[in-house]
Amino acid sequence: MMKNRIEWVARNCRLLTSIAEEFRNSKPFAGKTIGTGIHLEPKTVALLLTLQEGGARVVSTGNLNTTQQGAVDHLAARGVTVIGGPTSDIAEHQRNLKGVLSHKPDIILDNGGDLFDLWLKDRYASLLGGTEETTSGRMHLEPLRDQIRLPILVINDSPIKQFAENEHAVGQSVLESYMRITNRVTNGQRVTVFGYGACGKGVAANMRGANAKVSVVDNDPLKRLQAHLDGYDTPSREVALADADFVVTVTGRQGVVGEADLALLKNGAILANAGHFPLEIDVPSIRESANVADREQFEDAVETLVMKDGRKIHIVAEGHMFNLAGPRPLGNSIESMDLGFALQARCLEAVVLGNVSSSDCVVPVPREIDERVANAYLDLCYA
Ligand SMILES: NC(=O)c1ccc[n+]([C@@H]2O[C@H](COP(=O)([O-])OP(=O)(O)OC[C@H]3O[C@@H](n4cnc5c(N)ncnc54)[C@H](O)[C@@H]3O)[C@@H](O)[C@H]2O)c1
Repeated sequence: MMKNRIEWVARNCRLLTSIAEEFRNSKPFAGKTIGTGIHLEPKTVALLLTLQEGGARVVSTGNLNTTQQGAVDHLAARGVTVIGGPTSDIAEHQRNLKGVLSHKPDIILDNGGDLFDLWLKDRYASLLGGTEETTSGRMHLEPLRDQIRLPILVINDSPIKQFAENEHAVGQSVLESYMRITNRVTNGQRVTVFGYGACGKGVAANMRGANAKVSVVDNDPLKRLQAHLDGYDTPSREVALADADFVVTVTGRQGVVGEADLALLKNGAILANAGHFPLEIDVPSIRESANVADREQFEDAVETLVMKDGRKIHIVAEGHMFNLAGPRPLGNSIESMDLGFALQARCLEAVVLGNVSSSDCVVPVPREIDERVANAYLDLCYA
């Protein structure tokens, strides 16, 4: 019988496979509930089933606009409690997150800081701590440290996550998604990347590798200098917007590109966001601009705004993280996610075993876990 993509992904998550084998015997999460709100797609399926092998009862919902029904069905068939399904409705998503917390998970695997934030508003005593996957979540939770006071390890701050996923994999995946969704050429095109963190660095490098001319905009002068020394153009944001054939935001901040920028954009400019929250491009204000005469929706997650002056501006995936949207969204490479999720599994194990103290609240992955995961990956490569 034809095997599906979830099975292909599971087979290629070699780190998670070996951790699952170990967890089957050690059962670090026996009797514990892990609650999560994470992009539900084939790679997270592999992670959640690995945690289940470790004895956890897993309760999960997806993230806004990225949940894949096949992943939901696969998990539900294997005993994971999945709350809700694919949605881009913020209120429904909030209800689903509250639904996860209603199970009073002992450990939270958070993605954006939403679950820990909700827990603060309706605390229960049995929460042991957990992990946070993203940069955006770390920024969200850092100011709440004094209130949370539980061990929370931030996967994003592992150097492995930074170079393997954010830089290399997001860069590749953004290029792959741009080609897959728009099917437009990159060669000779001007691409403007907002944000030169790890993700932006990878996006810029992959776009340059695809023969685009790349401009970088970053608020931080050090990042602009770094981009300049890496060989990119670093014009003012106004010039970078006016020149761009394709604008991609990957900053983790809100309102990076908005209605006021419409006047700058050239005819045919394409806007897409790869940052975690769908707020980097202020799509509602852009759509409601008095200068928009008409809107056309194309298949494959492209919307065209016809401006009163005749220009056409295209928005990909309504400003949602576009490498997890559109037809057959693949996200980041399996191996990069296997590395990040091996860090997740080891960090959650460390929290449940009491190896991380409550003073380690919103801190990077401990060095020994990074080293263990790096060695395991290299051992598999050279086995
Ligand atoms: N699409 C994916 O698959 C994926 C994967 C990992 C992370 N992410 C997300 O990508 C985003 C960026 O992650 P990162 O690790 O590169 O973050 P980072 O914090 O390392 O880098 C963000 C950069 O954006 C710059 N910046 C902030 N506001 C800006 C503005 N208004 N204009 C221009 N530059 C601005 C900052 O100075 C910084 O250099 C986060 O939201 C993260 O959660 C997405």
